[in-house]
Amino acid sequence: MSITNEQEMEGMKRISEAVGVTLKAMREYAKPGISAKEVDEYGGQILNDLGAKSAPKLTYGFPGWTCISVNTEIAHGIPTANKILQEGDLINIDVSAEMDGFWSDNGGSFVLGEDINNHQHLVETSKKILYQAINHIKGGVKINEIGRFIETQAKRFGYKTIHNLTGHGTGRSLHEAPHEIANYYDKNYRARFRKNSVVAIETFIATKSTQAVELKDGWTFVGQHGGYVAQHEHTIVVTDDKPIILTAINGIWN
Ligand code: CO
Ligand code: CO
Repeated sequence: MSITNEQEMEGMKRISEAVGVTLKAMREYAKPGISAKEVDEYGGQILNDLGAKSAPKLTYGFPGWTCISVNTEIAHGIPTANKILQEGDLINIDVSAEMDGFWSDNGGSFVLGEDINNHQHLVETSKKILYQAINHIKGGVKINEIGRFIETQAKRFGYKTIHNLTGHGTGRSLHEAPHEIANYYDKNYRARFRKNSVVAIETFIATKSTQAVELKDGWTFVGQHGGYVAQHEHTIVVTDDKPIILTAINGIWN
C-alpha cells in the first residue's frame, strides 16, 4: 500500500507494533525442552489480546498462528507439538497479522541458548545485511539493486541467498505489489521503490542452497541442497531519506 494520510500511518504503526511485540516476546519465551506449539500458542494469545489476527491463518489457512522453522526448515515451518526446541537450534519465528484492515509482517532467526552448532555467524551476517539493505532504500531506488546488494554481501561472507523467497509489498493484505523484493539481482525486474509505500524487506542468507523446496506437508520449505538459512524481516515505509521501520520494536537487531 501507499500511505496517503495520518490515519493510514497510525493503522500501520498499530499492527506493526503488535507483530513486533509478539515476535520479541516469543523469542524470549523459547527455551530448550518446550515445543514449537507452546511458543506458537503463547504468541497467538498475545496477538489475540492485542486484537490482531494471524495473517498466515487468515490468508492461507496455515496450521498455526505463526511460522516456526527449526534448523534445516528454512521458512513456513509448522509449530507442531512434537517439534521440541533444543539448545543450539537455529530457530526462525515469523509473525504477520492483520488489525483494522492493516497488515504487517516481521521475522527473525536466532540461536537458542548456547551456540553449540556454530549458527551465530550466519545469524549475525543476516542481521547486518538486512540493516544495510534497509538503509539503502529510498524512493526511486531500483528494487533489483537491493537484491544485488544482499547477494553480494552474502557472498562476501561465504554465503548464498535463496532466490525464490522474497520480500514484498504489504499493508492492505499480507502480500501485495511489489511482489518480488528478491535476494539476488534479477535483471528483468525493473520496478523501483516508491516513496510512502509499505514493504516488507527480508533476507534469506543460506549456507548451501539457492532454492526453497516444499516438503510433503504442503507448507515447510527446506533448501534444495539442504543446509541452513537465516531470515530477518522488517516492515518499513519508504521515504525520500532513511525508511521508517514500523516493526523496530521487535528488537531483531539487538
Ligand atoms: Co514474514
Ligand atoms: Co514477508
